[in-house]
Amino acid sequence: MAGLPYIVGNWKMNGTRAMLSEVRAIDRSAARFPKVQVAVAPPATLLYRVRDAVEVIGIGGQDCHAKDSGAFTGDISAPMLKDAGADFTIVGHSERRTLHGESDADVRSKAEAALAAGLAAILCVGETEAERDAGRAEEVVGGQLEGSCPRIDGAPEKLSVAYEPVWAIGTGRVPSVEDVAAMHKSIRDKLVAIYGAGGADVRILYGGSVKADNAAELLSIPDVGGALVGGASLTAESFLAIVGAAASLADD
Ligand code: PGA
Repeated sequence: MAGLPYIVGNWKMNGTRAMLSEVRAIDRSAARFPKVQVAVAPPATLLYRVRDAVEVIGIGGQDCHAKDSGAFTGDISAPMLKDAGADFTIVGHSERRTLHGESDADVRSKAEAALAAGLAAILCVGETEAERDAGRAEEVVGGQLEGSCPRIDGAPEKLSVAYEPVWAIGTGRVPSVEDVAAMHKSIRDKLVAIYGAGGADVRILYGGSVKADNAAELLSIPDVGGALVGGASLTAESFLAIVGAAASLADD
């Protein structure tokens, strides 16, 4: 694994102040694992609180608007996330693509807005089950990358890509090691095609039903540089078990 493994919790629409104790516990333990980069994306309502509650871990948003400000009721811009203390934001999560109709072009604009605001961006891609069954998974993900990768000058140092097969999110199902390896290689090739040599350094995370009992296996796959974790990031206990698995591999 090149660089520190990056383990990111995506809390989705979960979390009130009552969950600050979880994030404090995650932060305290993360300090014991310096070989792992740990981050959490709480709901935007908690960003300020979480910023004050943690010292070690990164914190981020789950989405941002492509514009910096304006008449967009209910939306949150990248500079606003930055102002609230965020280090990064997720963009293009499949729940945004599906439930909010976000296109690749929308996701690209959001990723570019995030980078322009000084945030790191975690750009999510992934095929549906029907697309995989039709043998089109790599083609679909390649197309998503083509359409949604930010186009900025130079290598996108603050970009990570998260491969999240839609059918693996929240289902307890994960692709085979061979399928994850093949997809991450295909994503790497695409990133190099888009960015040139700098594409070799973009971190590629796996997401979709990552748990303590499969984390070590998934994180050992070549070109899996970390994990984007949904359900198992909601308690310090289950999230730290994944961080611990990453730390054990980093020690090897
Ligand atoms: P899950 O979600 O770990 O609950 O499958 C992952 C994600 O949606 O980022």
